[in-house]
Amino acid sequence: GKVAVLFGGHSAEREVSLRSGKAVLNALLRQGIDAYAIDPKFDDLLQLKQLNFDRVFIALHGRGGEDGVIQGFLSTLDIPYTGSDVLSSAIAMDKSKTKQIWQSLQLPTAQYRIIIKEAFDPAQAEQILAGLSGIAIVKPVSEGSSLGMAKVSTAKELIKALTEAFKFDQTVLLETWITGQEYTVSILNGKALPAIRMHTNNTFYDYQAKYQSTDTQYYCPCGLEQEKLAELNQLAVDAFAAIGCRGWGRVDFMLDKSGQWYLLEVNTVPGMTETSLVPKAAKEAGYDFDQLTIEILKQTL
Ligand code: DAL
Ligand code: MG
Repeated sequence: GKVAVLFGGHSAEREVSLRSGKAVLNALLRQGIDAYAIDPKFDDLLQLKQLNFDRVFIALHGRGGEDGVIQGFLSTLDIPYTGSDVLSSAIAMDKSKTKQIWQSLQLPTAQYRIIIKEAFDPAQAEQILAGLSGIAIVKPVSEGSSLGMAKVSTAKELIKALTEAFKFDQTVLLETWITGQEYTVSILNGKALPAIRMHTNNTFYDYQAKYQSTDTQYYCPCGLEQEKLAELNQLAVDAFAAIGCRGWGRVDFMLDKSGQWYLLEVNTVPGMTETSLVPKAAKEAGYDFDQLTIEILKQTL
């Protein structure tokens, strides 16, 4: 039957989604699937049923596409779609809600604090930072691709970073800064794909390091010893299941110098661009990009 690849959208990650969507569409076409690109504008969405689309591959990142909204719309139309359902998508889009669930299950995640735009008092910046061991990372709760994020270690930096983050979101998450290495585990059909370690010369794995840099390094296999790798994989699968996610996704981690894991977040529609992580992990597991795309699409059957 006919497959709609939803991509583009109006979130801050639109550009990334355009790249993911094109790559997915081309993979489906190469595999002989009757696939069409759809930018999720209201009129186009309304026509999905009339035009007899049987399934949807969601390649939208961020709000309006990855957060349960489109998933709810497609559920109402009774059109199967790839990836997580309404509730798990909505929770995963919100880093603070995600952390609260993980904490309640004793899954490791960094100490944090939530700041609401309308309630923020700059006079408290010093004390807020002290409560987070003095160095923090500022994250809009519902953004992706590291947009609006910054590392801060003074009250002045915190105020500036919050002003920036509030442009993306009314709610901002501050996490105690973890010094260490970044890892990610892709999940396909409930199982962990080979973990990847990312290395950047930037302060953290930010937008530039993700999509524009030529010196970001990716290690897959990631070089962890067997026991540590097993620990990581188990945490990834548990963290994914704890949110109720399904199909495919990617769980991001930090490993600090003492060997402690910290869960950062789960992405329910991870990037599928040429430089993205899930395709790298899949490749290491023996799936090329086309096979990976077909595997994800199969989840709609
Ligand atoms: N939010 C981006 C697309 C990712 O997680 O890959
Ligand atoms: Mg993300």
